[in-house]
Amino acid sequence: MLSCRFHFPPFCINSCGEKVPSLQVGCGQQVWSSTDSLIKPHKFCRSSKNKSGNVFKAMPGTAAHHESDTRGMKIYLVSDVHTDHVENLEWIRNLSPTEYKQHTLILAGDVSDNLETFEITMKLLKEKFNNVFFVPGNHDLWCRREEDDVSDSLSKLEKLIETCRSIGVLTNPSNINGVWIVPILSWYHESFDREKDIDGYNIPSVQKACKDFSACKWPSPLDTSNDSIARHIDGLNDATLNTLPDLQHADCQVITFSHFLPRFELCPEKRMLLYPKLPKMIGSDWLEARVRRFHGERGSDTACHLFGHTHFAWDSTLEGIRYIQAPLAYPKERARMQNGAQKELPICIYDSDRGGLLQDPFPSRWSEYYRRNKREPDNQKLAPWVEHHYHHQKHHQIHVDI
Ligand SMILES: [Fe+2]
Repeated sequence: MLSCRFHFPPFCINSCGEKVPSLQVGCGQQVWSSTDSLIKPHKFCRSSKNKSGNVFKAMPGTAAHHESDTRGMKIYLVSDVHTDHVENLEWIRNLSPTEYKQHTLILAGDVSDNLETFEITMKLLKEKFNNVFFVPGNHDLWCRREEDDVSDSLSKLEKLIETCRSIGVLTNPSNINGVWIVPILSWYHESFDREKDIDGYNIPSVQKACKDFSACKWPSPLDTSNDSIARHIDGLNDATLNTLPDLQHADCQVITFSHFLPRFELCPEKRMLLYPKLPKMIGSDWLEARVRRFHGERGSDTACHLFGHTHFAWDSTLEGIRYIQAPLAYPKERARMQNGAQKELPICIYDSDRGGLLQDPFPSRWSEYYRRNKREPDNQKLAPWVEHHYHHQKHHQIHVDI
């Protein structure tokens, strides 16, 4: 028997302005758990050897390498900062001016669709952190504003990377004190979703529900009705990733990151989601292939991939790779503790003084749920809050904003 971990009022208004059961995330998700007890830290992903001291040199012309003192080096993670929301920009302004000064931030996409806000955010972060790594998310590639002066989402991508370069934000793989940090560009495709669809309900298509389909512009022959965008954007990685040394067999810590999901198991099952077609707009099989090229088919005890996009805090290990998401998400989601995180952001994932990759999992309600419960993709019984929505809403107008 499942029960909600937190006692919230039974209803709240979601970001679509709809009355929905509480604990729902954005327009499509809700957090529940099989236990009311607090999450207890598990021990896993222990580093068998301290690799933090090993300096692995980049090939000339491919990536920067830094060979300075590795003592006290920390790597932090946050995604989906969405600084179009003034509260989120304030959150960044209010980050300590001193605490992170020597450290590295990995920002896993979705900063702002407004180029000016994007630049302001990145400059602020660069003042706070020694190194900032970034990959663009879907919001970053929206082309809705004339002032941004971009013809399509690919030119927006180029412009973002140029902007990052001018500020000193890293978008290419780099070796930071012996730790390889590898950004991977990606885009989602519908065929990534291989679990059974929910039948019998009038669920809007992704094209209708998701703003990306109107806010992004893709040049021909790229087409939102097939996997051409996911393939094309994956191919853009070749220039930087194919020239790297063999990191899979290198004796050093490698951290890969993307905005989108490399595995569908990193998202709750459809019956749990207010928008059950969400898995069709979140991930990429080409991304998982890239990730495995760095971490190996079987992974390792230090293999780690970071991601964002769904706004679900997550920390789980699948086939030898640890996958972590730590989203800031929207102010409304935070106010209702809807993104499932129970820890202050940004989270520290690596600390050279504590043996490298930190072992304690990032407390995240959904991945905790799946540590205790198996996925049941054939189970068509909707979670109570999803059932309530589809039985009580005459018009299933859902706008998914992630
Ligand atoms: Fe996103």
